[in-house]
Amino acid sequence: MLKIFKYFLMTCFLALAISCSDNTTDTPTDPQDYINADGINGGILFDKFWSVEGGYDQNSPNKAQFDKYSDFFRCKQCHGWDLMGRNGSYNSRSPKTNRPNVSGINYWTKARNMGAQELFDLLKNGSGKARRPLSTDLSTYDPAKDPTIGDQMPNVKEFLTDKQIWDIVKFIKVEALDVTKLYDATYTGTYPTGKATYTNIGKDGDAAKGLEFYNTYCKACHGADGKTFLMENMSTGKFTRSKPYEVQHKVKFGQLGSAMKKTPVTLQQMKDLYKALADTTKFPD
Ligand code: HEC
Ligand code: HEC
Repeated sequence: MLKIFKYFLMTCFLALAISCSDNTTDTPTDPQDYINADGINGGILFDKFWSVEGGYDQNSPNKAQFDKYSDFFRCKQCHGWDLMGRNGSYNSRSPKTNRPNVSGINYWTKARNMGAQELFDLLKNGSGKARRPLSTDLSTYDPAKDPTIGDQMPNVKEFLTDKQIWDIVKFIKVEALDVTKLYDATYTGTYPTGKATYTNIGKDGDAAKGLEFYNTYCKACHGADGKTFLMENMSTGKFTRSKPYEVQHKVKFGQLGSAMKKTPVTLQQMKDLYKALADTTKFPD
């Protein structure tokens, strides 16, 4: 009996050590499909569900449509890297003819706190609002005229399997990092002309540990000062300071289609890394 209890404690400790953040853990009443789900894969799917990394069938006849109208299908386009939709970092990401509006719902506060089955059902079937069929012609999308259909949540059950949906549910509930613990943000104005300002990057993280983490997992490619190559004209330090909402996702789940693979990382390690990258002397612009 004592042994079983010890094992139980150890398992809890291990589970905590691995996911570490304040995240929801499985409960015995959760469906087996949820318990088995892979939230890291879910994070990859959230970025681009038809990616090689996400295991999507690259011969699927739907792939051409996804590639051509990428932002109409990528979850992150409408819900944001921080899951806050237009209430977060995407408050100024205005629509274009090839990019729909960002959703108004804040999933960080909504979806994440739902039960696993409830979230699965909502994600798969919706709450009665119209969903955009896969066959929709998106070539005529014009946000200035009528964005209704283009802005709709795609009818995911036409192209995602239940397994993939469970993986995304697990990503939202367990693996997505709480960005409010990584930096302070001020959001002003109204979508799509809002403004976001980021301060206190890394919060109470430990810069020395973060530098160690950087040297182990990033330096080989990005260089000691993060300037081996520029990304969107920015060094690694500058990119992180400008887009802290996005970098955490890229580090944890990988930069899809590139050499940068997913890195196992806890919330605390991400804080440490951010704290190190906030240093403009060690990681100049
Ligand atoms: C074109 C924009 C768009 C894309 C792309 C998109 N969504 Fe949505 N999503 C919405 C909108 C709008 C709603 C609210 C209306 C609804 O529920 O259909 C929504 C609702 C949701 C909900 C809550 C369900 C509900 O009905 O309240 C979840 C969870 C969700 N989306 C996850 C995802 C995931 C995961 C993906 C990627 C596979 C995705 N979304 C892609 C726009 C989008
Ligand atoms: C194996 C090489 C490699 C490693 C290791 C690596 N990266 Fe990258 N990283 C890249 C490449 C290549 C790109 C650019 C990909 C592109 O242009 O799409 C990139 C992109 C990025 C970006 C820009 C992301 C974006 O949205 O465009 C950031 C920030 C970044 N890396 C930071 C890091 C950090 C922090 C680590 C360590 C946790 C790391 N990288 C580890 C190769 C690597």
